[in-house]
Amino acid sequence: MKKEILLALLLGAVLLVAGCVSPQGGPSAARVDVVDEGGDEEPAATEEPTGGEIKEFTLTAKQWDFNPSTITVNKGDMVKLSITSIDVAHGFAISAFGVNSRLNPGQTTNVEFVADKSGTFPFFCSVQCGRGHTGMRGTLIVN
Ligand code: CUA
Repeated sequence: MKKEILLALLLGAVLLVAGCVSPQGGPSAARVDVVDEGGDEEPAATEEPTGGEIKEFTLTAKQWDFNPSTITVNKGDMVKLSITSIDVAHGFAISAFGVNSRLNPGQTTNVEFVADKSGTFPFFCSVQCGRGHTGMRGTLIVN
């Protein structure tokens, strides 16, 4: 008698745990690094950050240019740049978006920002890298 009750309890507990765990788990926690701007009451049901898309670019930096030298995105996009310096130390700066990163030689540096205003903005090398340093620049176009 006692054993049967115990078994029933155990079974109930197992079912309860299984029922609680299954709807929430899963691999949906992948994309978490979206910055919450805070403030709005709406529950963030969609995955997209405030209307924009994620735009990823791979750039190389060398004496004395960036390749590609023009990047085009849309206003509101989350811009993710992966920049590799293939010779000496360079920098990557976009004043309008508060970006300024050092690019160490032979390394890849990730730069992220939200293109929250439209226009044409220069980006430029911010580390003295030799004779052509001041001409080492490019253009960010935000439509
Ligand atoms: Cu590259 Cu200064």
